[in-house]
Amino acid sequence: MKKIVIAIDGYSACGKSSTAKRVAAQLNYAYIDTGAMYRAVTYYFLQHFVNPTNPKAVEQALKTIGIEFHYNPKTGENETYLNGLNVEKEIRGMEVSERVSEVSTLPRVRSCMVELQRKMGKKKGVVMDGRDIGTTVFPDAELKIFMTADFNERAARRQQELLEKKQLVALEAVKENLAKRDHIDTTRAESPLRKAEDAYVIDTTHTTMDEQVGMILDMARTTI
Ligand code: C5P
Repeated sequence: MKKIVIAIDGYSACGKSSTAKRVAAQLNYAYIDTGAMYRAVTYYFLQHFVNPTNPKAVEQALKTIGIEFHYNPKTGENETYLNGLNVEKEIRGMEVSERVSEVSTLPRVRSCMVELQRKMGKKKGVVMDGRDIGTTVFPDAELKIFMTADFNERAARRQQELLEKKQLVALEAVKENLAKRDHIDTTRAESPLRKAEDAYVIDTTHTTMDEQVGMILDMARTTI
């Protein structure tokens, strides 16, 4: 069977990662969470006091940063490693969430991540989720999905996700963070979040995870 690239873009907290992971598992494809890569860079910047407005410091940091994903059989998940250390927990917290969109506007950070993502997806047979996969990273992806959902529903889901990771964050703070990231992600100069012309839209406000996964698998099977 032909292997393809499935690009899933969309807003934060509409279920992209969970859906993408399950689609990848069903097709026996690799899953790449590109948001985790921008989060790992942001975590490094915070840890090493890298000033995002200082191009030399950014360049130097990017030379030092190594990002990999390794499968953890205990959790059944691909986890994010920064320079050999598992940072999966650290990159999901509010501190990183507060800064990641700002760091993601930097053209050098983007070009570095896009290069890495293209390498990771070169052999195809991959489901990649993010903000610019169908428009910039793999504009020739065989299947493109644009996911969206009602803002309040997204905020409630993100708050629940954080709670499951033992982080109690007020709903208002979650909403504020999502709104700020939506704004930066859709208005930045370099590959802003937008629907690729040939992407299918899936609104997950009222769909179950099984339905979302089923829709994408059906589309994938007609493409393969
Ligand atoms: O997917 P997640 O919400 O973890 O992504 C965190 C942030 O990383 C996004 O809000 C966005 O600023 C940035 N991002 C990006 N391009 C991608 C993936 C994520 O700019 N392909």
